[in-house]
Amino acid sequence: MHVLIVGLGYVGLPTALAFLEAGCRVTGYDVSATRLAAIAKGQVDLSPLDHARLRFHRLETTADPAAIAAADAVVICVPTPVDEHHVPDLSALRAACGTVVAHAVPGQLVILTSTTYVGSTRDLLIDHLGGVDVVFSPERVDPGPGGRPLEHSPRVLGPASAKAGDRAEELLKRVAPSVHRVSSPEAAELCKLLENSFRAVNIALANEFADIAREVGVDPVEVIEAAATKPFGFMRFDPGPGVGGQCVPSDPYYLLWRLRRAAPTVLTAAMGAIAARPQAVVGRALEMLAAAGRDIRDAKVLIAGVSYKPGVADARETPAMPIIAALRRLGARAEFTDPLVEELVVGEEFLKRAPDPRTEPWDLVIVHTLGGDLGWLRPEQPVLDATYRLERPGDSRWEVP
Ligand SMILES: NC(=O)c1ccc[n+]([C@@H]2O[C@H](COP(=O)([O-])OP(=O)(O)OC[C@H]3O[C@@H](n4cnc5c(N)ncnc54)[C@H](O)[C@@H]3O)[C@@H](O)[C@H]2O)c1
Repeated sequence: MHVLIVGLGYVGLPTALAFLEAGCRVTGYDVSATRLAAIAKGQVDLSPLDHARLRFHRLETTADPAAIAAADAVVICVPTPVDEHHVPDLSALRAACGTVVAHAVPGQLVILTSTTYVGSTRDLLIDHLGGVDVVFSPERVDPGPGGRPLEHSPRVLGPASAKAGDRAEELLKRVAPSVHRVSSPEAAELCKLLENSFRAVNIALANEFADIAREVGVDPVEVIEAAATKPFGFMRFDPGPGVGGQCVPSDPYYLLWRLRRAAPTVLTAAMGAIAARPQAVVGRALEMLAAAGRDIRDAKVLIAGVSYKPGVADARETPAMPIIAALRRLGARAEFTDPLVEELVVGEEFLKRAPDPRTEPWDLVIVHTLGGDLGWLRPEQPVLDATYRLERPGDSRWEVP
C-alpha cells in the first residue's frame, strides 16, 4: 500500500510516520520547501515517539504534485485557519483539494482529514472526482510529549459510498484501534466540529466558573478538583488564559460560518467569551500591579510560557500574543520566556525570548503555559498564574485570574 500525505504539518507528519510504522510505503507532499528541509534535518516539533520514527524510517518527501498519481491512497492534512474576522480561510484547503483533483487517477482512495465546514468533501472533492473513492475522516492528532499516540485513537469515517468506506476502513485500521463508520462525509465533518465545539463551550464554562468562584471568595481549583471526583456526568475542564493552536480557536467558526442566519447561542457565547479571555488576564495583571503600587507604564512583566499548550513549540493563535500586545500598548515592558519558542511576532513587533528571566526583578510574572523552569519563582515574587495549575506557596503573592 502506497500512501501519499498532502501537507506535512502538525497532523500530516505524525500521520505519515504512523503509516510508515504500519508497514506502508509513504510519500509526503508539501508545498513548503522550508518545511521539507526542516523534516530532512529532523528539526521539527514532534513527540519523542515520532522523532524516533522519523530517524528510523525512510520518509520520501516531495514538492512535486505529480507524485500524487503514483499512490494507492491520498490523505489530505492541510491547515484550515480563520482570518482576523473569524472567517474561515479556505485557501490552503481549496488549493490542496484542487491539486489532488488535478492529479488523482481512477481507482485511488482519497481521504480528507482537515477540520472544515460541513459539505467540504462534496464541494471540493466528490463533485470533481470520477472513479475515485472519497471519504472524510477527521484526524485526531494530540501534539506534544504527553499527547496520545495516533494509533490509540479510534477514527471516525464518513464515506461517499460503501466501497469507499470499505477501502478507507481497511487502510485506517492499520493506524487506529477501531474505525467508526457514519453514513456520509457530512456526518463525519459535523462530528469533528462537535468535538471541538464541545471543548470550546466547556473551556468557556470553566473560565466563567473560575471568575464566579473568585467573586464569591472560593478557590476555583479547589472546586474543580472536588467536582472532578464525580465518576459520572462530569468531565474536568480547567480555566486558563484563553485558547490557542489550530483547533479550538478556529474550528467552531467553520460551523458558525455556515449557520450565520441562525447562529447557535451557546456556541456563539462561548467563542465570544474565549476571545475576551486574554483581556481579562490583562485586567487582573493591571489590578495586581496597581495593588503593589506599580505604574503599568514602566512595569516589567514576564510572560512565562507562550506556546498554546505545554511541550509544543506551536505559538499559533496563542493567547499570550494578545496579552503581551495589550501590556506593551499600555506602556509595560512585557517580555516572554519559553523553553521551545525563541521568537514571537506580536502585532508589528518581533520579540525574542528573555535571555535569562531569573536575573531580572519582575514586577509581575504571568504564568501562561507550564513546561518551562519555574523553580526560581519565590513566594514574594508577584505571580499571576493563568494556568491555575501552580501549587501556591502559603503567604505567597501568587494569584489566579
Ligand atoms: N495541530 C493540531 O493539533 C490539530 C489538531 C486537530 C486538528 N487539526 C486540524 O488538522 C488540519 C491540519 O493542521 P496542522 O496543524 O497539521 O497544520 P500545519 O499548519 O501544521 O501544517 C500544514 C502543512 O500543510 C502544508 N500545505 C499548505 N498548503 C498546502 C497545499 N496546498 N498542498 C500541500 N501542502 C500544503 C503546509 O506547508 C504545512 O507544512 C487543520 O484542519 C487543523 O484544524 C490540527
